[in-house]
Amino acid sequence: MNTFQAPKGTYDLLPPDSAVYLAVREAISAPLRNSGYGYIETPGFENVELFARGVGESTDIVTKEMYTLTTKGGSELALRPEGTASVLRAALEANLHKAGNLPVKLWYSGSYYRYERPQKGRYRHFSQVGAEAIGAEDPALDAELIILADQAYRSLGLTGFRILLNSLGDKECRPVYREALQTFLRDLDLDDETRRRIEINPLRVLDDKRRDVQRQLTDAPKLRDYLCDACRVYHAEVRDLLTAAGVAYEDDERLVRGLDYYTRTTFEFVHDGLGAQSAVGGGGRYDGLSEMIGGPELPSVGWALGVDRTVLALEAEGITLQLPPATSVFAVPLGDEARRLLFGVVTELRRAGVAADFSFGAKGLKGAMKNANRSGARFTVVLGERDLAEGVAQVKDMESGEQKPVPLAALVADLTAKLT
Ligand code: HAM
Repeated sequence: MNTFQAPKGTYDLLPPDSAVYLAVREAISAPLRNSGYGYIETPGFENVELFARGVGESTDIVTKEMYTLTTKGGSELALRPEGTASVLRAALEANLHKAGNLPVKLWYSGSYYRYERPQKGRYRHFSQVGAEAIGAEDPALDAELIILADQAYRSLGLTGFRILLNSLGDKECRPVYREALQTFLRDLDLDDETRRRIEINPLRVLDDKRRDVQRQLTDAPKLRDYLCDACRVYHAEVRDLLTAAGVAYEDDERLVRGLDYYTRTTFEFVHDGLGAQSAVGGGGRYDGLSEMIGGPELPSVGWALGVDRTVLALEAEGITLQLPPATSVFAVPLGDEARRLLFGVVTELRRAGVAADFSFGAKGLKGAMKNANRSGARFTVVLGERDLAEGVAQVKDMESGEQKPVPLAALVADLTAKLT
């Protein structure tokens, strides 16, 4: 084993690419922060029970993909495979829903863990930015979340994504549909594992990618035909609000999603430039989740967007984000006195809000200039012994190559003015 290798299915974020990840998290969360969502952070692990009950005992996430561990004290924990169950648990624990202001709107950003077969866009450690609106049943809330995700992607310059939309019905109509679907599926020619799935989670069979299965599903009963009036009206309202907001979506009645807690509105953001792992984000309404984990009735809705896949989508569309420079001024002292003086200048520049860096270690001019170049700085300040004697520093514009002496007393003001 090479000790310098990250575990399978994981990768490190390193500069300069890591700056893109920060910018993506920022861009996804900006519309949420601007719409009444407060930041929440929960632990990286929870009791296994929370996900088993919340995400669902029959899902791949719970049966195959969770990283579980037993603590020395005997607790059964799992690294969080997703954020919704944790956020709802935290909101219930803190009684946020009792503070009187429903919905409780929260956003989060963090690492999630799933023991999946790694491939491009699918990792065992990945990152999401998510939003949950807890405790309100209102089609405008579902629409708000979809509109904000759309706004986030557009603010990054992305255009190659599509929004798939479906309604999964509620506790009144879904059981009726489920039974009709089971009756239909039991008559098909399917393998044993799929037969078992019919009994546990028949809607997932609709999601089966194999052609011989899909061929048999052509005449399967459609959930749309089973939606109760309340669900039908609710879904129509969500669709109307999206249309009024100018957000395009596609109806996809096969959209099932891999987590059990969804009711009514479900949606996925897919990007066509990503190959097999095309879902850049997904979410929906989960009106029964609170009760499933032992809480009161709290109809809620939310989504999570995958940061890793959003970065891949930017690459697929050839988008380079305009990021602020990591370093605007690079300081190169030659000699001990120059070092002391220039270090003071760098400190002052930083306090004035200018991104500045310094040539550390005893380097010659050539090595230091190489560092200056690599830093991407717009200006390099060189202070040699002769400059010191004359009371100036040499300021080099790294774009034009032009170099000019600037009086030391005016250096900070001069650079700050040039850069703002
Ligand atoms: P999810 O669809 O499982 O939903 O994940 C959301 C997004 O996380 C995916 O669309 C994808 O971009 C990213 N993602 C998931 N698994 C991986 C992976 N192995 N590697 C890289 N990216 C991945 C949820 O997690 C729900 N909690 C969303 C939600 C919030 N529903 C309601 N509220």
